[in-house]
Amino acid sequence: MQTHEIRKRFLDHFVKRGHTEVPSASVILDDPNLLFVNAGMVQFVPYFLGQRTPPWSRATSIQKCIRTPDIDEVGHTTRHNTFFQMAGNFSFGDYFKREAIEYAWTLLTNPVDEGGYGFDPERLWATVYLDDDEAAQLWQEVTGMPPERIQRRGMADNYWSMGIPGPCGPSSEIYYDRGPDYGVEGGPIANEDRYIEIWNLVFMQNVRGEGTSKEDFEILGPLPRKNIDTGMGVERVACLLQGVDNVYETDLLRPVIDTVAAVAPRGYGQGNHDDDVRYRIIADHSRTAAILIGDGVSPGNDGRGYVLRRLLRRVIRSAKLLGINDPIVGELMATVRDAMGPSYPELVSDFERIQRIAVAEETAFNRTLASGSRLFEEAARATKQKGATVLSGSDAFTLHDTYGFPLELTLEMAAEAGLSVDEEGFRSLMAEQRERAKADAAARKQAHADLSAYRELVDKHPTEFTGFDELTSEATILGIFVDGKRVPVVSRNGQQAERIELILDRTPFYAESGGQIADEGTITGTGASSTAKAVVSDVQKIARTLWAHRITVESGEFVEGDTVIAAVDPRWRHGATQGHSGTHMVHAALRQVLGPNAVQAGSLNRPGYLRFDFNWQGPLTEEQRNQIEEVTNEAVEADYEVHSFTTELEKAKAMGAMALFGEVYPEEVRVVEIGGPFSLELCGGTHVAHSAQIGPVTLLGESSVGSGVRRVEAYVGLDSFRHLAKERALMAALASTLKVPSQEVPNRVAQLVERLKAAEKELDRMRLANARAAAANAAAGAETIGKVRVVAQRMAGGTSAADLRSLVGDIRGKLGSDPAVIALIAEGDNDTVPFVVAVNPAAQDLGFKANELVKVLGAPVNGRGGGKAELAQGSGKGAAGIDAALAALRAEIGRS
Ligand code: ALA
Repeated sequence: MQTHEIRKRFLDHFVKRGHTEVPSASVILDDPNLLFVNAGMVQFVPYFLGQRTPPWSRATSIQKCIRTPDIDEVGHTTRHNTFFQMAGNFSFGDYFKREAIEYAWTLLTNPVDEGGYGFDPERLWATVYLDDDEAAQLWQEVTGMPPERIQRRGMADNYWSMGIPGPCGPSSEIYYDRGPDYGVEGGPIANEDRYIEIWNLVFMQNVRGEGTSKEDFEILGPLPRKNIDTGMGVERVACLLQGVDNVYETDLLRPVIDTVAAVAPRGYGQGNHDDDVRYRIIADHSRTAAILIGDGVSPGNDGRGYVLRRLLRRVIRSAKLLGINDPIVGELMATVRDAMGPSYPELVSDFERIQRIAVAEETAFNRTLASGSRLFEEAARATKQKGATVLSGSDAFTLHDTYGFPLELTLEMAAEAGLSVDEEGFRSLMAEQRERAKADAAARKQAHADLSAYRELVDKHPTEFTGFDELTSEATILGIFVDGKRVPVVSRNGQQAERIELILDRTPFYAESGGQIADEGTITGTGASSTAKAVVSDVQKIARTLWAHRITVESGEFVEGDTVIAAVDPRWRHGATQGHSGTHMVHAALRQVLGPNAVQAGSLNRPGYLRFDFNWQGPLTEEQRNQIEEVTNEAVEADYEVHSFTTELEKAKAMGAMALFGEVYPEEVRVVEIGGPFSLELCGGTHVAHSAQIGPVTLLGESSVGSGVRRVEAYVGLDSFRHLAKERALMAALASTLKVPSQEVPNRVAQLVERLKAAEKELDRMRLANARAAAANAAAGAETIGKVRVVAQRMAGGTSAADLRSLVGDIRGKLGSDPAVIALIAEGDNDTVPFVVAVNPAAQDLGFKANELVKVLGAPVNGRGGGKAELAQGSGKGAAGIDAALAALRAEIGRS
């Protein structure tokens, strides 16, 4: 059964049982604790927590999931994927264990011609959580499964959470027995390769807090209602139903293996285990990379971008190890598109961009590999020169760390060069690096650890945002936090240096999100505490629902429960709306000028300023920049009306509203529209009412911010005007200095540059002529000390080291082949004293060496120098010692 059919049957099965089909969310979510969506339930977390009312009580989805912690298992086991499709059914306070078991069982075991998967019931096993007698009982009752095929397991296996604070609960997993070829009998607790997990049913009923592992976290209490969250691994089911050995050989991944096999010198499944693993890595990672780029990730050096980079690099290296030296990533992306396109149309419609970004990374990495190869060759040469046969661990580590060479590649190259590698040294350096990374990660986690203090408010009192309609609101203080700890009161005394946050029940302050930075303003007390005043310097959302106002207390004290007035600075807000609306306008103009491939990659705006990042290869032309600016300002001038309204996500998308990757959008979304079709974006930000209120928009230029991502920056409103005024003043100053009208400044400057160039050329020519003359004089004035002709001279002040070198050459030429030593020294710029010594071959035969003489010459001017026997140079400080230096040199030559 093909994967598309497996997906379809799953959704049909659950839709028939009253579930609403919900599309997959993007694999990236706006949650600092979660790098990627790793389960079908992630988009539903607020429903489980009771923070939002679900629009339906039953849902089903096939979610794109990324899990990279097991990346090293990929290709080695038969079942690990970094990207996989999780089919799930969800109950939000509706059915519970019995139906969850029944629905899963019927889909798995119903005959194929009745819409099921047709699994043999005798081969299915189940696990339940240690004390979950109810589930164990239900398996027997509902499915007739004998008790010996129901096993109990502890927290690590049968108590599920996202790995971070949030909903959790005991789970029950379904396994399929692949038979004795795959390992020992004894059920899932004995062997998870033979008994392969296909479905996890989570009885979602509790909330977990922070913790250190799957087995160690605090259970904070029950969820408001009992829910069901299940996840069936589509790839694993496909593997079983297609009768293949591993997930990489299923219908959606096998084509990638075949594409590689068509160009690799060694085939797949030819008995070379290492090669087969490489094929599978390529198949798995190429697909994950395509999905990640499709969802808006660009290769980078940290976070999600780093994961993508690492995956692509592993693909490229694996291909190299298979003996493929030509670029291959473009073709792999096309294969992924063809295989996955029917279920993921975005891979087709967005193909050009996905392929471009992946190929650009390949090109860049190939360059790095080439530099690495050069480094390798140097290191290998140096090793051999020393008479050694082992390449050092630190060379192997540098190749790995800086140039991305896996150890196996270095080993292979070393073997070709007749060397071995200090693997132990390499491993200990790797271990050190891992330790450092661990310490970093632990430090980062600490920063989130305090969130539990806010948890009660997060769950019970989400903040109401009033700031679309008013700038000043009366509100109640729900909580006061000092450095993440809840306190009953905060006053001006003594606490100025710490992080003080107020949580209010409602607020007009915009919390930083969607690229718009937080509002500034004040919070003041009322009634008895009317002397209390605080300045708000930042506002951040906690768990997407709670607005934390970061404050400095200026006077009085704030007590939990107080009524306060929260007031946004209207001038700040005005500027912020200009910045944000300006961003939408620039975005719209950019797409008008560059086309739909200029996809937003991020943005930031604050009063008066905006920046906008987008996917694009190479710099914009001046004409494109001018056009973008022109289109934007025409739209400002048109004084478009700015509307916002809420609608269903699907409707908004159908209208063509632009959505940013990485955001989870609720079903009801806010759409901001400027001038009808001109600009339509999903956006929670604050905006002007009419486009003319943005004022002039001035682009400041455009730059690169990493591979395939460009950035434009602009001023808006008064800041834009001030920027232009400053430029005008600069131009006026230039015109006045150059004594021409301003429109002639460019010509004038060009003329001046030309003249300057000509003058410099002339100067060079004269200097050379002078130097030649000086060299002739110097050669003529050579003295004889012992058997050697010696020119030891102070040159004119300002002579550079480079000039000295060329003079020395000239003089040496003029002195002929008799033994000769030339030493020149001068008072250079900035109190430096450059000097050069040359010794011709005949003088070298007498035992003179420039690199020794240069030390004698340098000492009296506090200088140091070095070089070779024929030529050495150096630099000192203190021109007073020049005569002594020349005398010391003569004396030294005389002594020999
Ligand atoms: N959320 C559960 C899992 O990912 C179903 O296994």
